[in-house]
Amino acid sequence: MRRSVITGCGSYLPKKVLTNKELATMVDTSDEWILQRTGIQQRHIAGEGEKTSDMATFAAQAAMKMAGVTAQDIDAIFLATTTPDNTFPATAATVQSNIGMHDKGFAFDIQAVCSGFIYALATADNFIKAGQVKRALVIGAEHFTSLIDWKDRTTCVLFGDGAGAVVLEANDNGKGTKDDRGILSTHLHSQGELRSLLYVDGGPSSTKTVGHVRMNGKEVFRHAVTRMSEAIMEAMRANDVDPSEIKWLVPHQANKRIIDATAEKLNLSPDNVVVTVAQHGNTSAASIPLALSVAVNDGRIQRGDLILMEAMGGGLTWGAALARW
Ligand code: ACO
Repeated sequence: MRRSVITGCGSYLPKKVLTNKELATMVDTSDEWILQRTGIQQRHIAGEGEKTSDMATFAAQAAMKMAGVTAQDIDAIFLATTTPDNTFPATAATVQSNIGMHDKGFAFDIQAVCSGFIYALATADNFIKAGQVKRALVIGAEHFTSLIDWKDRTTCVLFGDGAGAVVLEANDNGKGTKDDRGILSTHLHSQGELRSLLYVDGGPSSTKTVGHVRMNGKEVFRHAVTRMSEAIMEAMRANDVDPSEIKWLVPHQANKRIIDATAEKLNLSPDNVVVTVAQHGNTSAASIPLALSVAVNDGRIQRGDLILMEAMGGGLTWGAALARW
């Protein structure tokens, strides 16, 4: 049976770091409030002229290096972002050109906000299973701070910039069981009626401006814990997996309290949860591949480990993916 296996991962964070203390000089907030309510200590901010495609390119190159492949080995690029370089062309097309993937394959963007990486992974997995793609780059990249109203303390303390990427490739050695390496299943959901809970108040066909993030934090928090727990249960049920078999939960990094509440609901030990929100803040579609990269590079994630990824974002969108590393 064909499975899509992650053979490499990479990430990129901009050099500039914005600490809570610095934020407290910009808006009426404090290091204590931000840390206690979100677990965030700092976030990275893209430099002057640094674009989503630049960050995505660095992450993609690192992932290809780990996988031992070149741009000529890649058939497709699936790039999740809420903050494209331009309204069009797709940022994925710019990355295709940047990495030197000339005259072959295809590339497009996927927009599901903070769930974007799970959506892109699911899309790539299905292209691979259908036999249309052999090897893909799946990227989550965000210049999210370009959507921030720096006078709004309820949102500006939460977000950061960065990119993460994985190489996903077809492997025909699967037996069709949960012991196979690769993506075991993906589960996607959205509920458009809830779009006003978290949105950007601008866009080409509405205001003809880029706009700023607006959010009902309390409601988003409530939905996040419920929906992400549901998606996790769905993924475990689909593969007949018990929570005790999950080696690593790699959640979207929005808020430490959301992560803790979700893990607790599922009886997962905090020791089995990868948490990077303190250093990265919420990097939207980039947060899961950034966290994956950290835990692979520091040796926590090992071959054969069962990894559960989950996210929720504007839309509302949410989803989960279960994979054996
Ligand atoms: N600094 C200081 N005080 C603040 C700040 C701030 N940055 N922001 C809000 N406050 C104040 C509020 O004005 C309020 O004051 P009041 O009691 O005088 O009215 C008080 O703090 C409490 O505000 P709440 O909104 O009730 O605080 P809450 O505990 O809900 O935390 C937070 C807010 C952190 C935004 C939380 O609701 C949250 O994390 N929600 C999820 C949102 C999220 O993560 N969105 C990201 C995208 S979606 C996703 O990725 C899952």
